[in-house]
Amino acid sequence: MKNLQIETYKQNEHQLKEHQKITLNILSERLKINSGKANILEIGCANGNLLLELAKRYPLSHILSVEISSKLCEISREKLAQINHPSVNIIEQDITSYCTNTKFDCIIAEGVHSVFDDPISEISRWLSFLKKDGILLLFGLFAPEQLEYKFHYKNLQNDFGWESGFNAISTDSINQKFASDYDITTLPFNITIDLPKVKNNPIKTHTVDLNGKKNLVLAGSLILTMYHIILKKK
Ligand SMILES: C[S@@+](CC[C@H](N)C(=O)[O-])C[C@H]1O[C@@H](n2cnc3c(N)ncnc32)[C@H](O)[C@@H]1O
Repeated sequence: MKNLQIETYKQNEHQLKEHQKITLNILSERLKINSGKANILEIGCANGNLLLELAKRYPLSHILSVEISSKLCEISREKLAQINHPSVNIIEQDITSYCTNTKFDCIIAEGVHSVFDDPISEISRWLSFLKKDGILLLFGLFAPEQLEYKFHYKNLQNDFGWESGFNAISTDSINQKFASDYDITTLPFNITIDLPKVKNNPIKTHTVDLNGKKNLVLAGSLILTMYHIILKKK
């Protein structure tokens, strides 16, 4: 299954998303790096906004992204050319076929695991790329209850056939699979700003108010429950 809905990122907005701001805060608290030199991998950098911010904040680090879309690689590379960072690279590749002997202090995968039909086995592979005290930071859709789902959709505004990208494994599955070897921190994502519904773009999430609480909604029907989950080897 694939996800080709990159229209939103092709518009190349420059602002960090709310979850990315939280990610940067988590990193500044959790990322332990020797003399400022970290090895960082971002899986699926889209328009490169987070990558650019990481490059600015960690100027001595090696920063890599593996991104499947050639158009988004191009947009990200142009963005990174604005700054003079000696070691930021973007590889155009499907992460499922990416193998490396490099070990990372930090791997960030936001909005990516839901594309896969078996996210647990892909997440296990990513964990194998970590240094002994490295962290994997996941963000995106997780089911809060004892129910998981695979979701196929077709965007009639921008039709590439049936696609994936909204599969949700349970936060419990992450715990059951990884808690014996990893310390796991699970942080619910509560959005506080309003995101307007965008006309003719049903794939773009927006917020609705329910009982005074803002909820992220896709295409007016699917309420999204999102978390940051951080895994660190015990
Ligand atoms: C929903 S977007 C999230 C972008 C960004 N990480 C964020 O948090 O806003 C998913 C990104 O992952 C990329 N992607 C999807 N499947 C991928 C794969 N198999 N390998 C590498 N990148 C992938 C997409 O092209 C897109 O840039």
